[in-house]
Amino acid sequence: MTYTGYHHEMKPDMKTADIDLTLDPQDWEAFRALAHRMIDDSLDHLSTLRDRPPWTPPSAEVVAALSGEPLPRAPQGAEQVYAEFLQHVLPYTAGNRHPRFWGWMKSNGTPLGMMADMLAASMNVNAVGMNQSATLVELQVIKWLAEAMGFPKDASGIMASGGTMANVIGLAVARNARAGFDVRQNGLYGQPRLTVYGSTETHSWVTKCLELMGMGRESFRAVPVGHDYRVDVDAIRRMIVADRAAGLRPICVIGTAGTINTGAIDDLDAIADLAHEEGLWFHVDGAVGSLGVLSPTLRPLFHGQARADSLAFDLHKWGYLPYEVACVLVRDAKAHRDTFATAASYLKTEERGVLAGGLVFAERGVELSRNFKALKAWMALKAEGTERIAAIMQQNVAHACRLGAALAALPDVTLEAPVSLNIVCWRVTPPGTTPVEQDQLTREVLLRLQETGTAVCSGTVLRGRTVIRVAAANHRSRWADFEVLLAAVPAIIDVARRTIA
Ligand SMILES: Cc1ncc(COP(=O)(O)O)c(C=O)c1O
Repeated sequence: MTYTGYHHEMKPDMKTADIDLTLDPQDWEAFRALAHRMIDDSLDHLSTLRDRPPWTPPSAEVVAALSGEPLPRAPQGAEQVYAEFLQHVLPYTAGNRHPRFWGWMKSNGTPLGMMADMLAASMNVNAVGMNQSATLVELQVIKWLAEAMGFPKDASGIMASGGTMANVIGLAVARNARAGFDVRQNGLYGQPRLTVYGSTETHSWVTKCLELMGMGRESFRAVPVGHDYRVDVDAIRRMIVADRAAGLRPICVIGTAGTINTGAIDDLDAIADLAHEEGLWFHVDGAVGSLGVLSPTLRPLFHGQARADSLAFDLHKWGYLPYEVACVLVRDAKAHRDTFATAASYLKTEERGVLAGGLVFAERGVELSRNFKALKAWMALKAEGTERIAAIMQQNVAHACRLGAALAALPDVTLEAPVSLNIVCWRVTPPGTTPVEQDQLTREVLLRLQETGTAVCSGTVLRGRTVIRVAAANHRSRWADFEVLLAAVPAIIDVARRTIA
């Protein structure tokens, strides 16, 4: 067979081979000026966040501008696109950079993190491994994080896009290591159901993950929690016994280090004991709280976390870094590699050259191509130091405790859960109203807080009742910001009562 150099149906116009088209700027100086303006504008915006409300919803004009444009075939130019970004995109975020954003558990980001992401993009590294600096940086960050978490020096790990992916990686290793058969080769066909245990407060990543791994939601055994929203460890033990008796195969217990609803931290030491006794994998979902171990004051809350077989945690939540960055640590490096390594000829390691050292991160996770998330973690850890980060975490916890006490002292407000970490859950409960009316009022107050630009809190349901959550995980919040919330609540409750009446 003779090759022509191109597919016979392609019929290329050979003259275009001489044109030298590129996507680099034709005028580098003009582009440099635009790029500097982009950075200046971004920093201006960041340094004046308090001058604006946390959230501004996209107007009808913005929705129209961002929804109906036909595929741009002709170039519009970077200047034009940037002008549209400033007008239609930049102002309309959910608001998570703002000092009075306390919804869910979102990252505020840092100016250094922003620049680190820009630098990572400028390097355009594919952080799959290879003989390059990005590999060394990521391995260093993993080593630092393992040390901070009390994991052994030879533990494995990988930076992930978020807590969901980090947990998925941990649970995939758990499944393959403890299934008792070769899952990678045979799948789950003809095998007893594998079961995984975690509290009813376990984040919904777990069901998504079990569905994705072909185990099905039924494989998740939701274990009751106590009044403090921590898992009932004896109930896990009873469920394991019952499941084994029914012919199922328990493989893993998940402890949560900071639930999304209330910040509750399971008794990780007791779960570690149980997992050890039962021969199960112990996975910790520390997306919300695990980094708290950086603070000597908070560290005792996480007792037992260092005994986990795998530990997933976000750096774009309580680590304050911009999206996306999380980490999963796996104690048994071989089990980690055995779950993800492949044998494709085009990915083969070499002893020398660019591929020396291999594609180490392709063997630790699902993705092959990855961006250089570790750079912002590396820069932040070095520039700020763990002590400063820990001091801000302590400040968050102090704010949450003080806010909890202040809210509880307001008329018509009830705290609905103990402040176990950095989350305050409260509800509007005027005397003489029914629980259903209180649900409606609480929801109305939540939405009005957002819509009036007072603060962005989020809502959830605890024991069947609607509550407002304030997650104090924001490095920009000062106590004065919480005072803005406290000052506004009585009047907003008043308006909400009149609206609903
Ligand atoms: C406890 C917990 N686990 C996992 C996740 C998922 O993390 P991510 O949003 O980074 O994927 C969250 C998200 O809020 C969470 O709160």
